[in-house]
Amino acid sequence: MINERMQNALNEQIKHELESAYLYLSMAAYFRAEGFDGMAQWMAVQAQEEFTHAMKFFDHIDERNGRVVLKALAQPQGEWTSPQAAFEAAYGHERFITGKIDDLVKIASEEGDHAAGIMLQWFITEQVEEEASALKVIELLRRIGDSGYGLIMADRELGKRIAIPADNEE
Ligand code: FEO
Repeated sequence: MINERMQNALNEQIKHELESAYLYLSMAAYFRAEGFDGMAQWMAVQAQEEFTHAMKFFDHIDERNGRVVLKALAQPQGEWTSPQAAFEAAYGHERFITGKIDDLVKIASEEGDHAAGIMLQWFITEQVEEEASALKVIELLRRIGDSGYGLIMADRELGKRIAIPADNEE
């Protein structure tokens, strides 16, 4: 059985993951409105991934006879000054989430909760990938600058991102 402190912290993380999904969906809406359908696809896939992250915490709490409690989600930002600014905000958000995962690892260690500790290992690796993938797009957009043709090509490339079935996202 999961203890109350760990349960509360993981319930809080479900909120952070769902807020991540909400933020990326908001970025997808922004990109659609700006005519960047490929970047919108990239963000929509990212939003789906965040939902699977939330469900990993949901399942972990439930499997250990805990109680999942959903919290209110904050309204996400809806406008950015450029595609690069949106991806920079996504990168900043991922760094925030990495900090939250690190906090959870610390709580698991303090509580002697090895089951939560093992489950969190997956997220430590995932956060390295999450930060790297956002940073890769930022570097691409920085190189492109104000080139309209470059942005069209980048949009086409980023639109190739395909949703990964949740079962395979291990
Ligand atoms: Fe669930 Fe992008 O961290």
